[in-house]
Amino acid sequence: MIELSQNKLKEHFEQDLFTDITATADDLGLECYVVGGYVRDLILERHSDDIDVVVVGSGIEMAKAYGKRLGKGANVSVFKNFGTAQVKFNSIEVEFVGARKESYQRSSRKPIVEDGTLADDQNRRDFTINALAVCLNKERLGELVDPFGGIEDLKKGIIRTPLDPDITFSDDPLRMMRCIRFATQLNFFIEDKTFESIEKSCERIKIISAERIIDELNKIILSPVPSKGFIDLERSGLLEIIFPELVALEGVETRNGRGHKDNFYHTLQVLDNISEKTDNLWLRWAAIMHDIAKPATKRWDKRTGWTFHNHNFIGEKMLPSIFRRLKLPMNEKMKYVQKLVRLHMRPQAIADDEVTDSAVRRLLFEAGDDIDDLMILCEADITSKNLARRQRFLNNFQLVRQKLKDIEEKDRIRNFEPPIDGEEIMAIFNLSPSRVVGSLKSSIKDAILDGVIPNEYEAAYKYLLSKAKKMGLKAVSKEK
Ligand code: CTP
Repeated sequence: MIELSQNKLKEHFEQDLFTDITATADDLGLECYVVGGYVRDLILERHSDDIDVVVVGSGIEMAKAYGKRLGKGANVSVFKNFGTAQVKFNSIEVEFVGARKESYQRSSRKPIVEDGTLADDQNRRDFTINALAVCLNKERLGELVDPFGGIEDLKKGIIRTPLDPDITFSDDPLRMMRCIRFATQLNFFIEDKTFESIEKSCERIKIISAERIIDELNKIILSPVPSKGFIDLERSGLLEIIFPELVALEGVETRNGRGHKDNFYHTLQVLDNISEKTDNLWLRWAAIMHDIAKPATKRWDKRTGWTFHNHNFIGEKMLPSIFRRLKLPMNEKMKYVQKLVRLHMRPQAIADDEVTDSAVRRLLFEAGDDIDDLMILCEADITSKNLARRQRFLNNFQLVRQKLKDIEEKDRIRNFEPPIDGEEIMAIFNLSPSRVVGSLKSSIKDAILDGVIPNEYEAAYKYLLSKAKKMGLKAVSKEK
């Protein structure tokens, strides 16, 4: 947090970037303030590109005059309906808005908007730490206007609403997600009254579009310790509404004295473990999804206790409908998450059994370039509290990793394509597309992956001829 004094803030706002805003506002005789996220992040010493300026008067008029002052290269876009305007200059974006007063009717989500004072504008903001304003007019440059104790809250690490939280959340229910998102990103504590209000109002999240919700959820997932956000989402009741499949993982059932782990908290632990290793959003999503089918596949077996057979395959199948509903991308990002979910038990299975060349080759073949990510996921998946057990798993993985490296160096399986493809098989035996072609093709692939033949053309060709002969096929040409 920066050391706070008017002089310090004044110094910051004397930068070139702001002097033209100051001059424009003074010329027009308009009161003008930087507000919201920019001020919060400045004080917290976080980088921020978005500059929001509130003008007591017309934001559009101010933006136009500012653009004019900047001259060529400045690009002014006016959004008349919203009463806002944006000025882009080099890589900087400044958004201007007239100070406004908003009043909401319960029957409508559209507020009645009127011109207002700075205080009115601060009243309609979501959290005390987002309602800070710093004056840009020359006479009062750097003066902080903090009507709700936002600075104190920044110091103490508290998120709370400026007004009665029931009103703030009812005005825009997305703020419930934002509240948990800020608490997670900043590692802040949500004030009790504010949290209780989310518990009371959580059903209202249903009126918010999936696109806006997933935006916030992804920000929670990309935070340093995402479990904090998920625990708050769960406790508040929001998670049950937006992502019930995850809540279904919660709980432990015990039979004949045998329980299983709580898969909700296990999943969150895996997510935190992964987040220490990578910023890759989709790898983090793979952690969230890896056990998603455990409730659907849970069975009790008299001999072995609780089982979750095929939860990886069922999980893979569950993803498209979850992705569609959450408005996550249905493209190669989803396929990547599906692949990791499908394969997440394989390295462990290999380590438990004998680490054979053939098993490692097959894993490399299926994981392709995602093999490293898969290994990160699998290591994150070890959440056993028993240190000796944990160490044993990690050692086994070391072995698998070494073997993966050796075999990749030797056989180059990662982006492996069998040396003879379907087209060629059809030409060699004068076949039209059929099952036989497919089966010959995969027999070559299997022979290479199993180490029966080397990954070379001549060996594959010979192998193909012997296989075909057994099927009564004769080569009509030799292609190369
Ligand atoms: N705001 C609000 N209610 C919302 C969204 C925004 O009151 N639902 C106000 C807050 O004062 C916020 C400002 O608008 O600081 C700017 O919003 P936005 O750019 O969405 O968020 P930032 O606070 O800048 O944070 P981030 O960029 O991390 O989203």
